[in-house]
Amino acid sequence: MTTYIAANDAPMKNTGNIKLYGPEGFEGMRCAGQLTARCLDEVTAMVKPGVTTAEIDDFIFQFGLDNGAAPATLHYRGYQYSSCISLNHVVCHGFPQKKPLRNGDILNVDVTFVLDGYHGDSSRMYVAGQAKRAAERLLNITYESLMRGIAAVKPGARMGAIGEAIQTYAEGERCSVVRDFCGHGLGKLFHDAPNVLHYGTANEGVEMRPGMIFTIEPMINLGRHHVKILRDGWTAVTRDRMLSAQFEHSVGVTEGGCEIFTTSPAGLHKPLSQAA
Ligand code: MF3
Ligand code: CO
Ligand code: CO
Repeated sequence: MTTYIAANDAPMKNTGNIKLYGPEGFEGMRCAGQLTARCLDEVTAMVKPGVTTAEIDDFIFQFGLDNGAAPATLHYRGYQYSSCISLNHVVCHGFPQKKPLRNGDILNVDVTFVLDGYHGDSSRMYVAGQAKRAAERLLNITYESLMRGIAAVKPGARMGAIGEAIQTYAEGERCSVVRDFCGHGLGKLFHDAPNVLHYGTANEGVEMRPGMIFTIEPMINLGRHHVKILRDGWTAVTRDRMLSAQFEHSVGVTEGGCEIFTTSPAGLHKPLSQAA
């Protein structure tokens, strides 16, 4: 049995109960989410051939410092960076690296800022230079997968509706949905109940209620869905070494549907192909 509990009365840990946030929580999430979105906006101009992902990570750390926010990933379970930057066939949790980006690389930059106790978690895909046609297609399908998942969020529906919307669409486009990682409740905690699966059927999962806050963050592959973790203990890659992409938003369930906290203020969330 799932129990829902007012976030204000809940212990600050993941008890498996689902926290319901009030207006104060939603306002906190708007502030944290918009800070993360502004940072991801600024990353757009940085991404080009020759730049290293370590430089992007340094920028993200400094951006947080300048705005009174801490990157939630830094020292999280031993993780050592302010962001995850996942290149090409890396599915997620890639380490920022000193190796320069090359023309045609696609990369996911995933940032979570903690601002006044609330977590704004979002990621986007970027292209260094000019994307190949197959890569560009994957980015568009992955973005559309996220937005279809978000469109399924409304009170009374089950969490499985999100997974069904994503899986039906992505597989219809001959892509696959990664099973080994999921979205998550968040708010005052980084990773909280419930798990948000990106596959499944609409009659599964807990019922959505106003006040729930969680991420949707589908990882979509051009090849098969299977992943493996490299020996560093973090980096997840596709087993078949084909391209993987991911987009992530933090959202809240409202009476009428859903609010996206991490919308790009500059309108830069959707992947843009850079001029040749
Ligand atoms: N930001 C990731 C997410 O979307 C989590 C990264 S955890 C880390 O949930 F430790 F790898 F950074
Ligand atoms: Co994230
Ligand atoms: Co997340």
